[in-house]
Amino acid sequence: MDKKVTVVGAGNVGATAAQRLAEKELCDVVLVDIIEGVPQGKALDLTEAAPIEKHDAHLVGTNDYDASQGSDVVIITAGIPRKPGMSRDDLLKTNAGIMKDVTQKIAKLSPEAVLIIVSNPLDAMCHVALDTSGFSKNKVIGMAGVLDSARFRSFIAMELDVSVENIHAFVLGGHGDTMVPLPRYSTVAGIPITELMPQERIDALVQRTANGGAEIVSLLKTGSAYYAPASAAVEMTESILKDRKKILPCAVYLEGEYGFNNLFIGVPVKLGANGVEKIIEISLAENEKIALQKSADAVQKLVEDLKKL
Ligand SMILES: NC(=O)c1ccc[n+]([C@@H]2O[C@H](COP(=O)([O-])OP(=O)(O)OC[C@H]3O[C@@H](n4cnc5c(N)ncnc54)[C@H](O)[C@@H]3O)[C@@H](O)[C@H]2O)c1
Repeated sequence: MDKKVTVVGAGNVGATAAQRLAEKELCDVVLVDIIEGVPQGKALDLTEAAPIEKHDAHLVGTNDYDASQGSDVVIITAGIPRKPGMSRDDLLKTNAGIMKDVTQKIAKLSPEAVLIIVSNPLDAMCHVALDTSGFSKNKVIGMAGVLDSARFRSFIAMELDVSVENIHAFVLGGHGDTMVPLPRYSTVAGIPITELMPQERIDALVQRTANGGAEIVSLLKTGSAYYAPASAAVEMTESILKDRKKILPCAVYLEGEYGFNNLFIGVPVKLGANGVEKIIEISLAENEKIALQKSADAVQKLVEDLKKL
């Protein structure tokens, strides 16, 4: 392949993203993890599936970063999920340390790469990656909105019994309980869902979307979602590698857009070879503005907590 993508963190999200990237023949893949044997084993296993899946992408698993040199895109999924007894601050501190370490190594070897951040707490981790890498703001992008929107789209499709392909949906804001699904901008074959279902059903789907991550955690019990998160990171990666210029909701660094400054917030952007090529500003109703402000306040609080570490 003529493109290279490094996936840091060979856990559930990282390994699934590596699989999807290879099977779509988008790029060669370097899988990096701190645990000896895990990235090597998963990369070899995926390589052995290639004859059956009929792709010629090369996969390498490693514990050091040498093989990642010159990557076009780096997807960072390294981190720990929350365990019983751990506070949010514990997770913030541990994952901020991991994100700093990973970003330093990546930035040195792939100074031209676009970084796609997946690790949680997402918006705060984007701040760490931007500060540590020294990359321009268009090259540090958080994955959350594509996943949250995909969840909303799935629920709309289930509700109306129509193809998921007909459905577009937007979810703005931070990645968390305060995310802001936008029913007005969510359509089925171009028809706003507000025309297709009663308000109470829309409210129920919005609520389910906001709890989408927690719903999976409560079913799995030992981890969090990874198939859809990996798909979301790969859709963003594809738009960058192929310069497709898709409009996707992503967490990006705002400097005045939507009235926010120096904060990562999920908004619609155009993703192409240069990363974030445009931030799309859509007009929001008063209640949507209030919800977005609440979401931004939650992100701001985490950023303040980061500064205290
Ligand atoms: N943004 C989103 O929408 C979204 C969705 C799903 C998961 N996540 C987050 O993504 C992260 C990964 O989730 P997962 O389910 O794959 O977890 P996981 O535990 O399966 O995988 C994480 C991997 O990171 C590795 N790791 C830890 N420290 C490292 C380091 N310093 N260098 C390299 N690798 C290191 C671990 O060894 C592990 O293999 C978590 O923080 C999770 O909360 C975010």
